[in-house]
This record gives sequence, structure tokens and C-alpha cells, in this order.
Amino acid sequence: MPKRVRTAVFPVAGLGTRFLPATKALPKEMLTVVDRPLIQYAVEEAREAGIEHFVFVTGRNKGVIEDHFDRQFELETTLEVRGKTAALNELRKDLPSAGRTSFTRQQEPLGLGHAVWCARDIVGDNPFALLLPDMLFKGEPGVLRQMMDAYEETGGNVIAVEEVPEQDVSAYGVIARGDGPDSGFKITGMVEKPKREDAPSNLIISGRYILQPEVFTLLADQPRGAGGEIQITDAMQTLMQTQNFTGVKYQGQSFDCGSKIGFLTANVVYALDRDDIRDGFVKELRKLDLGDQL
Ligand code: UTP
Repeated sequence: MPKRVRTAVFPVAGLGTRFLPATKALPKEMLTVVDRPLIQYAVEEAREAGIEHFVFVTGRNKGVIEDHFDRQFELETTLEVRGKTAALNELRKDLPSAGRTSFTRQQEPLGLGHAVWCARDIVGDNPFALLLPDMLFKGEPGVLRQMMDAYEETGGNVIAVEEVPEQDVSAYGVIARGDGPDSGFKITGMVEKPKREDAPSNLIISGRYILQPEVFTLLADQPRGAGGEIQITDAMQTLMQTQNFTGVKYQGQSFDCGSKIGFLTANVVYALDRDDIRDGFVKELRKLDLGDQL
């Protein structure tokens, strides 16, 4: 049995430049899909997969994320006095319990690899899950749960992948696929943002990882890669020489909420999926009479 994965790391220190001016003072991860911030969806996905400790790598202007995962006594009391039980329960039910969150800071946004490295002392010598909260996944079970199932069989490192049209590969980290089914196959290579003609497949690394702690040692000396940033893919590429990597082509839908189109689409899909919202929302959409624009 491989060592259990109890800790998840959420890098939330990026600048979110694609969402300016919204992200000037508000962290991208606090943008809401329907009525929940992106970060909360990621935490719920991790909890469903059995994660017990939630580590946030934050940056400037991100204090509000810490507040989001804290009790809000004044608000709770007011809701209680006003008899707003449903809202109160909603507020309380998703809080990680005391001592199960940690916050550390990435003082400069030097890239995802650097953000992950900032969590090294908290994670220690343990395998950990890494979730990029701007990637939102809709599916049952959640993507991290599907990856945990693969991990229990293979151990080592696990990466969630998805298929994209070939012309889009150069925006992503891309893997080379070896033997095995979609639920767990060998990864034989990977490259960050390749030219289309150099891409080993159209399977992209899509924001969920289970990694072994040796990656921290590699990240410590990792030079800057694509975009002048310290890239996690580059460190994983080196780690592949000594450890196995398994790919999971997950079941479910994904939304890149770091992009405006992905974010807006997610809002529509999640709203249509809500019993309390669907009918009213559809009625308003019909009134817009979008016929010839669709
Ligand atoms: P992105 O590549 O989406 O970058 O980061 P970004 O800065 O957040 O957004 P844009 O591209 O400027 O619009 C993917 C994830 O990695 C985190 C981000 O917070 C996001 O969750 N990240 C990125 C860091 O924590 N630190 C970094 O230096 C870079």
C-alpha cells in the first residue's frame, strides 16, 4: 500500500492578470461560480478525496482567502437572531476543522513551481495532492478521488490529463502516453508549452496532481522555464527519471476559470444544474432571445 495522501496544497498566489481589473484587490480564487468562490470548490473536491490538511500558498491581497475559511461570529449571530437557518448551515458546513488549514506566503509570484516549493516545510516528507483552484471540475466522483483510486494501485506520482484540440496544445503542459487504461496509464514523457509539431500528444496536464516529496528538492534548484517562471512540469520531468508517473484521463467536465470564457461557461453550467436556480435562470435566458447569436 502506498503512503496515504493526507495533505493538499492550493497555490493561490498568482497575479490573475487575465481577470484585471477584478483581480486588482480580489484574489482570482475568490471569484464566484454561482454563489461559491472557486477555492471552495477545490477544497470540497479535496475533502471528498480524503484530504485532511489544507495548505494554501497565498500572496499579497490574499488575506480574504484566510478569512473565508475562518468562523465569522458576528455574521453567524446575526443569521441566528434572524432565524436564517439555511444560510447559517451553509456557512458552517464547509469549514475545515480547527488546525486543519495552513497558510504560507509566496513573496514573489515566480511561478507555480516556486509556489509549490513554498509549501515544503508544511508538507514535510509526505506525498501530497496539488490542486489549481482556477481549474474547476464537475463530475462524480471528483477528479482527485479518481486519481486517488489510481494512486492506491500504483503509488508514485499521478497527474490528471484531458484531451484538447491539437492546435491548442502549445498553451499547456503536455504528456506522452504509455500503456494502460484511461483510469491509470503510464506517462512516458512531458513537456511544458511545446510547439504544436513537438507535442507528444494532445493530452494536457490539467491542474490536479499527486506528487512525492522528492519534487521539493528538485524545485529548490529549478531554473526558470517557459514564460520566465519556475515550472512544476520541468521539475516533474526530472523526477520521471527515478519515479513512476501515472496519468488519469478523468471522467467529467472541466472549466478553465482562469480564462473569461471558461469562467462564464462554468457559471451557466453550474446555474443550470441547481434545482433552486434553473427554472428562473432559463426564464431570463429565454427573455434575452439569443436565437440568432447562438
Ligand atoms: P496561472 O498560470 O493561471 O497564473 O496560475 P495567474 O497569475 O494566476 O493568472 P494569469 O495567467 O496572470 O491570469 C495557475 C495557478 O498557480 C497559482 C495561481 O494562483 C493559480 O492558482 N500561481 C501561479 C501561484 O500561486 N504563484 C505563481 O507565481 C504563479
